Amino acid sequence: MTDLLRPRAMGRSPRRVEGPAKVTGTAPYASDQPVHDPVHAWLVQAEVARGVVTSVDTGRALAEEGVLTVLTPDNAPRLASTEDAELAALQSHDVDFRGQVLAVVVARTPETARHAASLVRVVVEQRPHDVRLSGDRADLYAPEQVNGGFETDTAEGDLAAGLAQAAHVVDRTYTTAWYNNNPLEPHATTAVWSDENLLLYDSTQGVHTTREAVAETFGLSPERVHVISPHVGGGFGAKGTAHVHAILAAMAARALPDVPVKLALTRQQMYSLVGYRTPTIQRVRLGGSADGRLTALAVDAIGQTSRFKEFAEQTAVPARTMYAAPHRRTTHRLAALDVPVPAWMRAPGECPGMFGPEVAMDELAIACGLDPVEFRVRNEPEVEPESGKPFSSRNLVACLREGARRFGWSHRDPTPGARQESGWRVGTGVAASTYPVNRSPGSEANIRFTAPGRYRVEIGAADIGTGTWTSLAQIAADALGVDHGDVELRIGDTRLPKASVAGGSSGITSWGSTVVAAARAFREKFGDRPDDGDETCVAMPESSASDDYAMHAFGAQFAEVRVHVDTGEVRVPRLLGVFAVGRVVNPRLARSQLVGGMTMGLSMALHEHSLLDERFGHVVNHDLAEYHIATNSDVPDVEAHWIEEHDPHTNPMGTKGIGEIGIVGTAAAIVNAAHHATGIRVRDLPLTLDHFVR
Ligand code: MOS
Repeated sequence: MTDLLRPRAMGRSPRRVEGPAKVTGTAPYASDQPVHDPVHAWLVQAEVARGVVTSVDTGRALAEEGVLTVLTPDNAPRLASTEDAELAALQSHDVDFRGQVLAVVVARTPETARHAASLVRVVVEQRPHDVRLSGDRADLYAPEQVNGGFETDTAEGDLAAGLAQAAHVVDRTYTTAWYNNNPLEPHATTAVWSDENLLLYDSTQGVHTTREAVAETFGLSPERVHVISPHVGGGFGAKGTAHVHAILAAMAARALPDVPVKLALTRQQMYSLVGYRTPTIQRVRLGGSADGRLTALAVDAIGQTSRFKEFAEQTAVPARTMYAAPHRRTTHRLAALDVPVPAWMRAPGECPGMFGPEVAMDELAIACGLDPVEFRVRNEPEVEPESGKPFSSRNLVACLREGARRFGWSHRDPTPGARQESGWRVGTGVAASTYPVNRSPGSEANIRFTAPGRYRVEIGAADIGTGTWTSLAQIAADALGVDHGDVELRIGDTRLPKASVAGGSSGITSWGSTVVAAARAFREKFGDRPDDGDETCVAMPESSASDDYAMHAFGAQFAEVRVHVDTGEVRVPRLLGVFAVGRVVNPRLARSQLVGGMTMGLSMALHEHSLLDERFGHVVNHDLAEYHIATNSDVPDVEAHWIEEHDPHTNPMGTKGIGEIGIVGTAAAIVNAAHHATGIRVRDLPLTLDHFVR
């Protein structure tokens, strides 16, 4: 067995093992899986945000040649569980949001299904809807807890006293927009129901989580549900929990036994059916002493949820970890609206929740007359501020210093608006990043010695484009003390041992720990010379590290921004991030995750904004023509680096998770740089040119 502290496979950069299959178009995604003679489902969606379905006429649709069935709230079978209201497909006549599925048409071709869907006549008695998020609503409420199981509110010391004793106070409100996830591969499910067994080819971040949700909804024992998902064209959280289309595909398949039913969402349908990032309103109060130490820190965060299902984003939670301050508070309030239910989007909580505080830190640094890097360094906590736990490792300062060095920060003139080049105002800015080290329970891994001298490692993990196929095999190779090429990894199928979801950047921590435990058990049982067919299966070992330590990754992001003097056009010629993310398993893949996260953060800063038409309650810019996402020409130079970090507490590999931290802090760094360029402080995303045209 290799000493995991001196690995041979980890730390190298083998190329993605599935890369050739992907670039030659042979990797099967959910909708490409070879099934015999499939039929196609198309959705009929609500055109009002609230109401009651009074009648559904399917006559004309059913009369079309090739239409096999139309399911509606009148004839759809009752589901065993409607506990997850999002998955309670066609179970009620209530319309809770615009875009809700009111019927599904199944036909021999997608064209016929789509046409027939347009012939279904649904009459809805409309009720007044309420979709407007604002900070002054009288009905804002405190959820029992926020996502991740965190306390809704926290308080320490005396905030008013802390602000009163400050030499400088920042008290500002910041907002982040409504954002929709746009993975390249839209959500799709192919379902086959035969002999009370259900087979799903699904685009999901977790085959076992999809299985659990579907089995529970239909009242099936989980063994009867088989989910296959070898390749996923991006998820970002949108595929982290099952959405209604998977239930509808299964329901349609049950109505047509032994016939494969394909249901692929359109890009536009994704804007109402697979979740989105809640908009947030964040009041941030910071007090600073004359020498730049925080005396008080408060974040009061408001978000939205749907009225029919609660989703409580943990926006103020990162503020509990970041900086020392004796007097502090964090709160979360929600508005329950007639909107689709929000869900996960890359770094839920941390991504929006670091925006307000990291811009406020820039504002307070300027008020105190301190460099924003130095100001952050000065407010480093000894232990995690609110839990009092020691950090397993915390290298934010190292990231700030290394980032400043690489970026050339020391040459910066701190005066806002000092630099102008050929019609562009030029500025630079910094912000911090953080993301917790999450570990999900419940994984198991099986290792088998197969002729000739190869090890088959099986775990139902997911590769959502992140590189699991490659990096988890690297971990297995080191745990077994063999070459990377001697490991045959199998993932993405519920026939394999159970695995936790690819979410919360927890995949490598959870699956890797499980694979390492299985390798150790295998060697204990069979030694270094196993026989063909020797195998062992183990569950992920318990870990008490999170009881003893606060475990987080950190980073520092630097941005250069140019704002055109006449037009206000904003460009970001340069982004540079330095991260402390524990051991990096595969530098090539890690860099891709970090650069991807930063690029998504740039996209959030400059472009992304789901525009709600309050009269109708839907996102009007619901496609890639109107919902602007950064393109290559928006991101000329993005550099991601990391420092050497050895954390003995996170897991046997010493990793921390890299999928999400790259997006955290980027928007704040860009906003701070735009202020440095222009002297104009933007507190509401996105950073559109109208902010700068005066
Ligand atoms: Mo990620 S939003 O935790 O799938």
